[in-house]
Amino acid sequence: MASRIFRAGFLDGRRGRYRPTDLVRQRRGHLSVRCDEAWFREQSKNGSDIGMRKIIVVTGASNGFGRLASNALARAGHTVYASMPMRETTGRNASRAAEVKAFARQHSADLHAIELDVASQESVNAAIAEIISRNNQLDVVVHSANHTAYGPAEAFTPEQLAQLYDTNVVGAQRVNRAALPQLRKQGQGLLVWVSSSGTRGGTPPYLGPYFAAKAAMDALAVSYAGELARWGIETTIIVPGSFTKGTNYYAHSGRPADAVRAEEYADGPTADISEITLRGLAALGPMDADPQAVADAIVEVIDTPFGSRPFRVHFEPSDDGAAIVNGVADRARAELLQLIGLEDILKPTIIG
Ligand SMILES: NC(=O)c1ccc[n+]([C@@H]2O[C@H](COP(=O)([O-])OP(=O)(O)OC[C@H]3O[C@@H](n4cnc5c(N)ncnc54)[C@H](OP(=O)(O)O)[C@@H]3O)[C@@H](O)[C@H]2O)c1
Repeated sequence: MASRIFRAGFLDGRRGRYRPTDLVRQRRGHLSVRCDEAWFREQSKNGSDIGMRKIIVVTGASNGFGRLASNALARAGHTVYASMPMRETTGRNASRAAEVKAFARQHSADLHAIELDVASQESVNAAIAEIISRNNQLDVVVHSANHTAYGPAEAFTPEQLAQLYDTNVVGAQRVNRAALPQLRKQGQGLLVWVSSSGTRGGTPPYLGPYFAAKAAMDALAVSYAGELARWGIETTIIVPGSFTKGTNYYAHSGRPADAVRAEEYADGPTADISEITLRGLAALGPMDADPQAVADAIVEVIDTPFGSRPFRVHFEPSDDGAAIVNGVADRARAELLQLIGLEDILKPTIIG
């Protein structure tokens, strides 16, 4: 597992200061920080809950990182609810639900498919209530549901932007409002947010509505982190860069509803922008970037002792600079909280 996890630094709980850890120059001259096996060994010596089975719900688990993370977490011995919008049993995730069952049987894993559409508070409430009633407990929420879009920003209707925002931001809020009362009651828990390097790294064109939604989600995650710390709830934000294989990120990406405007961009001075963007991005990112590494990082974060988890974990196959920019932003946050006398909320309180 030598260097799968990359983080931009860590928050020194004692001083409430952001401290960059050893800077390691990775392939392509990318400045990142390596969090290696020794670090995890050290954490496990100090910690209490490593290896403990947790009750976990993962949103958007029919595909991509959510699906890979659910399987990996279940194989690591956790009880995992791979949640997805079933869209009735005949819907497009019916076969995925059957796969979950087969995977659980094959690996003797405690993995369950559960209906959860982040666009519906009713669906979210029902799923979370069911998980809690079955286990009398919920320890970890992984926010991975998402909807992407590709095209010139002007050609998307306001309703399309609102829909992207609804899935990526309001959806997480629906899940939090359903799950957090239980986590706060327990006095210990973890939120894992799957963000995107596009919110802070290099920003290619034609991903504006998606990046805007992810930036909002990331900002929400950062604020939540501080507000939940004294309730004993920890936060880790996973920041993937672009993975061209192994997810439906590109295949399921929405297109602008206003075809006339989109055509104007395709015929005007911007005619070559899309082709250059896609070609350039494909050339930048290594084709073998394995999304399983992101899923494995989620497992490692969850298995890290409470209170020692990294605030952010970066995976940027194409080195778009998000680790550096997030490092500065997270340091500014830590310094502000320290200045106003709230440095304790940089780390979750250990209750009880
Ligand atoms: N792949 C990348 O290169 C990349 C890069 C940076 C960040 N990310 C982030 O990684 C996370 C996972 O993305 P991914 O690449 O794994 O995408 P993906 O393969 O498209 O998976 C997205 C998942 O979200 C689900 N979803 C969509 N609408 C939903 C709803 N209303 N309720 C519940 N689930 C819903 C999808 O279910 P259906 O298929 O049934 O719609 C699917 O399971 C996202 O937060 C994304 O922003 C991905």
